[in-house]
Amino acid sequence: MKIRHLGPKSRSGLRVILGISCLAILVSSAVSQSLGAEPLASPPEGQTYIGSKKCAACHFDQYLKWRQTKHAKGFEILPAKYQADTSCLACHSTGHGQDTGFKDIGTTPDLAGTSCEACHGPGSKHGEIAKGFGTAKLSGEDEAYVRSTIHLIIQGNACVKCHTANGHKDHPPYDK
Ligand code: HEC
Ligand code: HEC
Ligand code: HEC
Ligand code: HEC
Repeated sequence: MKIRHLGPKSRSGLRVILGISCLAILVSSAVSQSLGAEPLASPPEGQTYIGSKKCAACHFDQYLKWRQTKHAKGFEILPAKYQADTSCLACHSTGHGQDTGFKDIGTTPDLAGTSCEACHGPGSKHGEIAKGFGTAKLSGEDEAYVRSTIHLIIQGNACVKCHTANGHKDHPPYDK
């Protein structure tokens, strides 16, 4: 009798203890995540280019929309003899001339044309930080933090640096 009675009771006691410690782990991990979650004044320095496919893993809608734009075709519209011409790649690819920017279509296909990071800036740390939050839906505070790790639009003349003041009239001459 006694033994039969003790069994289930101590099991449920164990269940309570397990439940409490799971809760404690959940709470403490939530706390330790939001500890780093104060929005930054500006995105972290030293980010490298990771290319549009990596962004697509989390921003698939934006990726599909971007694929439909002329920006996505900015490299392939270059006549073949200009596809390695640095003076063209400045505007027809992403981050060309910088360490981790566009090199050539074989090495860095995901930085061809005006890709995500031409307008949002390099996003390696943004991607890593976002990954750290896993697949759970972000709290408002954590989302604000993740948003603050990349530019909504890079500072300065984000569009005009490629779309020069007089538009197409200033475009360098080339053989069609
Ligand atoms: C691991 C997932 C992940 C990856 C990879 C990722 N992001 Fe994000 N990004 C997020 C999340 C989460 C947010 C918060 C807003 C949301 O939920 O869409 C966000 C927000 C943004 C924002 C909004 C910034 C603002 O100020 O509101 C931009 C722009 C952005 N990402 C661009 C990019 C670009 C460009 C890349 C690739 C270089 C990229 N992201 C890679 C998860 C990711
Ligand atoms: C200062 C930035 C910039 C540079 C440098 C540049 N382009 Fe462009 N290019 C653009 C922009 C912006 C467009 C979009 C068309 C517009 O301006 O209306 C464009 C459009 C084009 C087009 C589409 C067809 C057309 O003529 O409109 C071709 C082809 C092209 N550029 C080739 C080249 C070649 C070849 C070079 C190098 C000799 C070059 N571009 C250098 C910014 C640039
Ligand atoms: C020509 C510049 C340009 C390119 C290229 C571009 N974006 Fe954006 N993106 C913007 C601008 C400007 C905004 C803010 C205005 C808006 O929401 O339309 C934005 C907004 C966003 C946002 C924030 C949406 C939100 O929830 O507030 C995300 C995420 C994003 N872009 C991801 C991407 C990804 C991923 C790519 C590449 C596949 C990309 N962008 C390519 C200019 C660009
Ligand atoms: C890295 C250089 C670069 C940046 C930055 C850039 N663009 Fe472009 N943009 C181009 C090039 C190159 C083309 C032409 C691509 C093609 O014809 O396939 C283009 C094409 C376009 C077109 C299509 C024009 C047409 O003839 O239909 C629009 C609209 C446009 N850009 C708007 C913007 C806006 C708005 C921004 C800023 C948020 C911006 N671009 C930033 C290089 C750039």
